[in-house]
Amino acid sequence: MRIKVFTLFPDMLRPMLEASILGRAVERGLMAVELVNIRDYTLDRHRRTDDYPFGGGAGMVMSAQPIVDAFAAHLPPDFRGRRVYLSPRGRTLTQRVVEELAGEEELALLCGHYEGVDQRALDAVIDEEISIGDYVLTGGELGALVLIDAVARLVPGVLGSDESSEDESFSTGLLEYPQYTRPAAFRGAEVPGVLLGGNHADILAWRREQSLALTLARRPELLESAPLDDADRAMLARLKRAEAVGAALAAAGVPFERLELRLADRWPREWIEAFVPAERRKEARKQCLPGRRHVGGLWQAFTMGYVPAAGTGDAWAAWRDGLSGAGELYLPKDGLLYRLPDAGALTQEAAEGLGDVVLADAARRRTFLRATGRRAGAWVAQV
Ligand SMILES: C[S@@+](CC[C@H](N)C(=O)[O-])C[C@H]1O[C@@H](n2cnc3c(N)ncnc32)[C@H](O)[C@@H]1O
Repeated sequence: MRIKVFTLFPDMLRPMLEASILGRAVERGLMAVELVNIRDYTLDRHRRTDDYPFGGGAGMVMSAQPIVDAFAAHLPPDFRGRRVYLSPRGRTLTQRVVEELAGEEELALLCGHYEGVDQRALDAVIDEEISIGDYVLTGGELGALVLIDAVARLVPGVLGSDESSEDESFSTGLLEYPQYTRPAAFRGAEVPGVLLGGNHADILAWRREQSLALTLARRPELLESAPLDDADRAMLARLKRAEAVGAALAAAGVPFERLELRLADRWPREWIEAFVPAERRKEARKQCLPGRRHVGGLWQAFTMGYVPAAGTGDAWAAWRDGLSGAGELYLPKDGLLYRLPDAGALTQEAAEGLGDVVLADAARRRTFLRATGRRAGAWVAQV
């Protein structure tokens, strides 16, 4: 990739082009960046490169002559790359635009200054105007650096294998998931457990969910064009549902903390230990646990008579009366799991508004299960 930058202030760009990853890329010959000082091409005897705007108005305008001559001196007549003017009026630079530009053999970048550039220079030597965002800079040099830096990352060999560009924000069409490095605990803040567990599939699923959640919260418009599969769409539906559940719990004054769903995997085993008499546990485990996750095991234990069910009538009141302290709330249909520091704060009305629910006290010794639809009914189990 060859890049020529036409500017009145080459010194502004030099330090950035010599440092870090960009500097290494230039040094290793993966990129060639040439700085062209427009002032070297002015025919004005005072070396001026700007003048007052016709029609009046504040500031100065960069003259056409030095720019057009500088381009003519540095670009061959059959130049096959893209000639870009950095300008707040241009197409916004996005990762897609960066990918497009990275596909060019050569780029010529024009940096404006003052009030801008004589339109005739733009008409003569520019293919496209590109903006780095909806704000106005004093000059195009910072814009050119931003563009060069973003394009450089996509030039093969510029990033080492440990600095891959494939998984970044925008490359996947989504914002990137949170990253962590050692130590695992920093001033009381711990790294999410799933990242320490070594289960690659779980880690991928967690990262994808985090990306989807961040994108949904911060840049929902990106989801319209991001490549999503059925699992992503199901996860998005779950995240939207999580938002609604969070709002409902907050409105009911119930403090909560959302937990990783995989933490519910341990429930069925704990239920069997808590509810089934010792002499029947082995048999219950064999009948209820294989292949079943979360509530499936409990449901099986209820329906197969391993667990005493306290009936459907005032089951809620019976369950709530025995509650003390923290509990966990699981919504089986939505795949959502919460820790409730004060489980007793959840009223029956608020719980019913959530659809199917499983509520368990922290020790999993009292459980309330409410299922709607074909399996309608409510049960309380306790030991
Ligand atoms: C003060 S600005 C001129 C702004 C111009 N009068 C206008 O309103 O469009 C000076 C130069 O900074 C550069 N510049 C300013 N904002 C930019 C942005 N958002 N993206 C890229 N270049 C920008 C352009 O090269 C521009 O010629």
